[in-house]
Amino acid sequence: MPADILVGTQWGDEGKGKLIDVLTRDVDMVVRFQGGNNAGHTVEIGDQKYVLHLIPSGIFRPNVKNIVGNGVVADPIGLMEELKALAARGIDVSNLEISDRVQLIFAYHKKADALRESKAGVKIGTTGRGIGPAYSDKANRCGIRGIELRNPASLERLFREQGEKYNRLFEQAGVERLDLDAEWQKVAEAAAYLAPYVANTAYTIAAALKAGQKVLCEGAQGGLLDIDHGTYPFVTSSSTVAGGACPGAGIPPQAVRNVWGVIKAYTTRVGEGPFPTELFDETGEALRQEGREFGATTGRPRRCGWFDAVASGYSIMLSGVNLLAVTKLDVMDKLPEVKLCVAYDINGVRTTELPASAEVLEAAKPIYETMPGWLTSTSGAKSWDDLPAAAQAYLNRLAELVGARIGIVSVGPRRDQTFEL
Ligand code: IMP
Repeated sequence: MPADILVGTQWGDEGKGKLIDVLTRDVDMVVRFQGGNNAGHTVEIGDQKYVLHLIPSGIFRPNVKNIVGNGVVADPIGLMEELKALAARGIDVSNLEISDRVQLIFAYHKKADALRESKAGVKIGTTGRGIGPAYSDKANRCGIRGIELRNPASLERLFREQGEKYNRLFEQAGVERLDLDAEWQKVAEAAAYLAPYVANTAYTIAAALKAGQKVLCEGAQGGLLDIDHGTYPFVTSSSTVAGGACPGAGIPPQAVRNVWGVIKAYTTRVGEGPFPTELFDETGEALRQEGREFGATTGRPRRCGWFDAVASGYSIMLSGVNLLAVTKLDVMDKLPEVKLCVAYDINGVRTTELPASAEVLEAAKPIYETMPGWLTSTSGAKSWDDLPAAAQAYLNRLAELVGARIGIVSVGPRRDQTFEL
């Protein structure tokens, strides 16, 4: 005991990788519990920059155990390549376990993802990593799980069965079939590479909790992309709110202590879907350039806008966030004034509730509070007292609006550009 959970509170890309890296200073274990390699967690250590997609962000600390939990959808080829790339840069990856219950993503899932995006009525703007189709197979009880990585004969049989099923769908849709023989060679190589890491991780985590070790569950994406609570259908296919950590890692609710909510000082979104505070002017462009807002996984430019306390407040409420980690405050340093969306005007009615319908949210007009900017660099701040008064006022108002306490402020990409309150 205990386990802490860290989640994104917006539409992803809040800077979770960096925060996890900072918080792993005093933890024994980091567990990924949902999502897959649609995530891109950036960690900068000294002059080295790493982007992790599937591997938990505790991998850079030699004494931290890292678990790819059962709730994850894992592309075995991507995972092997990520492990090899880290090992080639001198990172010890022996401290990793992959759940035997993880759902595996194959080439046919990625192809089905692309097909859906190209043909369906509603384009989601997915990362193209096969996430939706893999979770669909899981729910449909025809997914292939991590345990099969240890059993090549059974893995091959299941892979060919499922692959053939998808090939029939591709044929019907008039797109090229996958060459299952060629794909199997790649899968077989990855399976042999990953097999030693496969374990019954719920027991590993339970033993750690019983021994009094500190476990940190690392969320991917963000609360507004949650399959149930996000801006459906423009969401990812997993539970990105903190509650998802229980089934996704295999831990009981009583084990949870703190929920960290990572929150960017402004808002970004990649892919399609409503975004009430999106800016299409030079301020939006300034945030994109200053904040280097280009996707870590796909390189896509991120949509940028003002902080939205209605949308973020909803996800913070659902996750029971008690500690906020505010990131990228420094990106706003040059803005003469800053705005916070405190409510929406939906067809003439003021509301502070996030509507269920994406169409209704699309029509929401943000109601802003405007505050003076601080026009001072915050990137060297080492404590709350180092921040200009206007930045303190902005953060205090933000925290008040979403109803949680600020525990950490991050003012730049490096480990040392972070301070606790
Ligand atoms: P999928 O998860 O690839 O199916 O994509 C569904 C939606 O979630 C799209 O809008 C993606 O842009 C978004 N998304 C998925 N993963 C991330 C992430 O790690 N950061 C930000 N957005 C993401």
